[in-house]
Amino acid sequence: MSAPNKSYDPVEVEALKPEEIERMRDEALAAIAAAAGLEELREVKVAHTGDRSPLALANREIGALPPQAKAEAGKRVGQARGAVNKALAGRQAELEAERDARVLVEEAVDVTLPYDRVPAGARHPLTTLSDRIEDVFVAMGYEVAEGPEIEAEWFNFDALNFPPDHPAREMQDTFFVKPLSGGSETDAAESGVVLRTHTSPVQIRSMIDREPPVYVICPGRVYRTDELDATHTPVFAQVELLAIDEGLTMADLKGTLDHMVRALFGGDLTTRLRPAYFPFTEPSAEMDMQCFACRGESAVNPDRPCRTCSSEGWIELGGCGMVNPRVLTACGVDPGRYSGFAFGFGIERMLMFRHSIEDMRDIIEGDVRFTLPFGMEI
Ligand code: PHE
Repeated sequence: MSAPNKSYDPVEVEALKPEEIERMRDEALAAIAAAAGLEELREVKVAHTGDRSPLALANREIGALPPQAKAEAGKRVGQARGAVNKALAGRQAELEAERDARVLVEEAVDVTLPYDRVPAGARHPLTTLSDRIEDVFVAMGYEVAEGPEIEAEWFNFDALNFPPDHPAREMQDTFFVKPLSGGSETDAAESGVVLRTHTSPVQIRSMIDREPPVYVICPGRVYRTDELDATHTPVFAQVELLAIDEGLTMADLKGTLDHMVRALFGGDLTTRLRPAYFPFTEPSAEMDMQCFACRGESAVNPDRPCRTCSSEGWIELGGCGMVNPRVLTACGVDPGRYSGFAFGFGIERMLMFRHSIEDMRDIIEGDVRFTLPFGMEI
């Protein structure tokens, strides 16, 4: 008969009683269930499964038990610890799922909200188109030349072979600038100072400033006394080109125009010249480019009407011609040795047909709702 082992401390045995283990386990389970967040659960875990937790301490007491009690107590403590660990893992998963769901709601991005409350500006399409045209010619070795917008009548008209009584010089077409001393309208007409009506005076200045050969492209703002409407504006932008060299012919002009429309509109578009008159060129021509939208097809095929060229097949660009020898002489260039060609056109008009803009006022009014869709590029 084996006598009960009385050699261990009854106080220690107390900690391993089934009710005690159950109490520790239940306390741990209650604390786990009550943990409201992951941080709190971490503390509960340390308190109930850490080295100094009641169950860990109880586990340590097992060694002090008599052999016959060890297995039983070990099983009880082990089961209690297993239950606590399982509950911990379960609660951990629950709290993580709650956190994830909350983060999804709190950090949700509403992709329909405006991405930018202070909209960035955009370059005006006129500027971009003008730059693009300049680039085409700079790539061919032309220089960009600029001049004053308030111009001497001599540069704007006389040097360009406009006779003194030419209708373009009338006050209905040209803004004359009054002398600083003020005076009447008639004084203005006689001031000899105008708002330039084209950028041709820049060509005159270029020829006077340089020795030939001269290859310049002259972009700029020009003024005419037109009323503002859907197709006219008293201030508009122009690009004019001038080439002076030995042996230049109309073939060079035509080749340059063809190159320009291909560079700006793509493909193998061509241009055509129609006889015209300008005082500063001889011969002179109006230049048209083949319609970049229908490529001329609408003119021959009634089933394919084209809005861009009104089914003409061609779009009017501007004027051109061989520089009049009288203009060369006025600028000190020897017409016996040099010849040249020039052309000029309005950029608003090109922008209009290039982008199907129906009202010129949209281009010049400066409303960002018009400008923005062009962004930084056209
Ligand atoms: N200067 C002309 C205009 O403003 C355009 C042009 C330039 C015509 C060069 C022929 C040659 O209308």
